[in-house]
Amino acid sequence: MSKKPIIVFEGIEGSGKSHHVSKVAKYLESKKIDYVKIREPGGSLNSEKIRKLILNKKSSFDKNTDLLLYLAARSENIKLIKKFHKKKIILIDRFVDSTIAYQHYGMGIDRKIINLINKFLLKNIKVDFTFLNVVNKKNLFQRLKKRKSLNRYDKFNINFYNKVQKGFLNLAKFNKKSYKIINSNLDLKKNEELILNQLKKLIK
Ligand code: TMP
Repeated sequence: MSKKPIIVFEGIEGSGKSHHVSKVAKYLESKKIDYVKIREPGGSLNSEKIRKLILNKKSSFDKNTDLLLYLAARSENIKLIKKFHKKKIILIDRFVDSTIAYQHYGMGIDRKIINLINKFLLKNIKVDFTFLNVVNKKNLFQRLKKRKSLNRYDKFNINFYNKVQKGFLNLAKFNKKSYKIINSNLDLKKNEELILNQLKKLIK
């Protein structure tokens, strides 16, 4: 594995992934290690514009339009990823697995189409390691309640989030070596430690 890996943080709403991306970023800063931090959808100027469009509460796109918008946002991001691939550690808050989990497992869009467009966009770019954060129903809704404002994708019912989380777990099952499952219902500090220990192994 490259010492400048692409590390992705995945999970449903309220699973704590964004918290952990920030913690890892802070750790790298404290060690003066160069990194790039991206989120999806978003991350680059144009991709952030598309993010606003997708997640706006007033938007009412159908699932296929959503898929194409997420992939359009990725297309804009991929330039940034290619620029720093193997030159800097790249941290990504959601990536390809989110599209498979939400649009395929959650919304039932044909996985082949998603794979095809992702392949077209990513070419030789490969994720090196994924931290998959999982959360139970109680914590999911408690954490969503605490949010100041909810976006279009924060308002699905529990069945949808269940399907998406199971989808993520399914992806992890087939690639155990490059996934670490983080149980975000357990102690936060212990999870931070777990992630930092794994990170150190990845970049050593
Ligand atoms: P966030 O809350 O982590 O910022 O993500 C925004 C939402 O976008 C989240 O509900 C998951 C969704 N999403 C997809 O449905 N498909 C995708 O490909 C990506 C990247 C995100």
